[in-house]
Amino acid sequence: MKIQPANFLNGKIRLPGDKSISHRTAIFASMATGETRIENFATSADCASTLDCLRKLGVEIRRENSMVTIRGVGKNGFSAAQTELDCGNSGTTMRLLAGVLAGQNFDSILIGDESLQKRPMRRIIEPLAQMGALIESENFCAPLKIHGRNPLQAISYKLPVASAQVKSCIMLASLNAVGKSKIQNPKSKIQSPPSRNHTELMLRYLGAEIEENFVEVEGGFVQEISVNGNSKLVAKNLIIPSDISSSAFFIVAASCLKNSNVILENVGLNPTRTAILDVLQLFGADIEVLDQKEICNETVGDVRVCGRGNFASKASSNIISGDFIANLIDEIPILAVFATQIENGLEIRGAEELRVKESDRIAATVENLRRMNAKVEEFHDGFLVEKSELKGATVNSFGDHRIAMAFAVAALLAKGETEIVGAECAGVSFPEFFETLLSVRN
Ligand code: S3P
Repeated sequence: MKIQPANFLNGKIRLPGDKSISHRTAIFASMATGETRIENFATSADCASTLDCLRKLGVEIRRENSMVTIRGVGKNGFSAAQTELDCGNSGTTMRLLAGVLAGQNFDSILIGDESLQKRPMRRIIEPLAQMGALIESENFCAPLKIHGRNPLQAISYKLPVASAQVKSCIMLASLNAVGKSKIQNPKSKIQSPPSRNHTELMLRYLGAEIEENFVEVEGGFVQEISVNGNSKLVAKNLIIPSDISSSAFFIVAASCLKNSNVILENVGLNPTRTAILDVLQLFGADIEVLDQKEICNETVGDVRVCGRGNFASKASSNIISGDFIANLIDEIPILAVFATQIENGLEIRGAEELRVKESDRIAATVENLRRMNAKVEEFHDGFLVEKSELKGATVNSFGDHRIAMAFAVAALLAKGETEIVGAECAGVSFPEFFETLLSVRN
């Protein structure tokens, strides 16, 4: 994929449904009783992996473009798959389905592509084993052989990482457990969920008994989530907002290219996902939210972005770390591209989780930025990007969709042509990315 620099972006666009929410609608609708119609289901390859796995587990699913209809089987009504369940590149598919399958009375095998086979699964294997499921793996990596059991035992568990996938996995297993499970998030300085909370919101919307409490501890708060194993999910139609993580590429590009004017319609604005907007605004980006409303327990609105081009921090430092990171985790590669446009640059710390995503996103971002002439220092848990004039170069996606899209935006801001090797992996989350970019670029 070869990309030329752009002058500005202009237009009104509506991006596909949110990937995180789409996975959850499909899984939770399958666990419900009754039929669910899901509107604006993500076009991402990852979410198609989730639908394929659910079909193999006996769920009747019809799909017509972005409309998906699911006939629920009940929370422990799945049937054993005749083959392995292929999660492709999708960590969310593997970790959330592991939680569901741990509570079924049969065995399942979850497999994934080369990248997914390298990602850490100990974080779900240990709590699921404590609940009574047995999971076989080599070095705590996929393939995972899950010996399910119904019912499981409720658990009281302290999450070692602020991970929504791990939290959701345990919450789903808890729905098939006897008693009330308690899941404690890591400590945060502010009284808000430390990772995305779509599972909590949607399970509650479908009738599950979920409680959230914040306990004050020294230096901050600990959020405790309880899930009642007696809960039943009842089918309710679901509407999915557009994906804010996909929107972030357009928001950054439009912010950086002077004279841009872009409206992104119907974007998911759940506060656990909007840290990217807060950070961009902190550095002076011109972003406005219009027509904000609630749909199916999720906040949705239109995002208007006008091009600026000169950015400097309104805060005392140019370091982002701590509680911000988990709510910004998927946007860090594009934020690194934005950083090349900021007076005094930007430092990201406490983001070591990026090393175990679809690629090592710290190494991939640093290498590509350097190839494009940016001055970057790498740390074990982040990087420091200085204000730099980007130059077109050959960069690599490292097989990672967010790296491919982040560097497509860098290419728009650079002098000269950029080639992205392996750009087609953008389809993992956003197959229409390059086409949409072409429709607004000038
Ligand atoms: C996701 C949670 C995040 C995120 C991933 C999607 C989810 O992962 O990086 O793209 O849908 O729950 P972790 O929870 O492992 O940090």
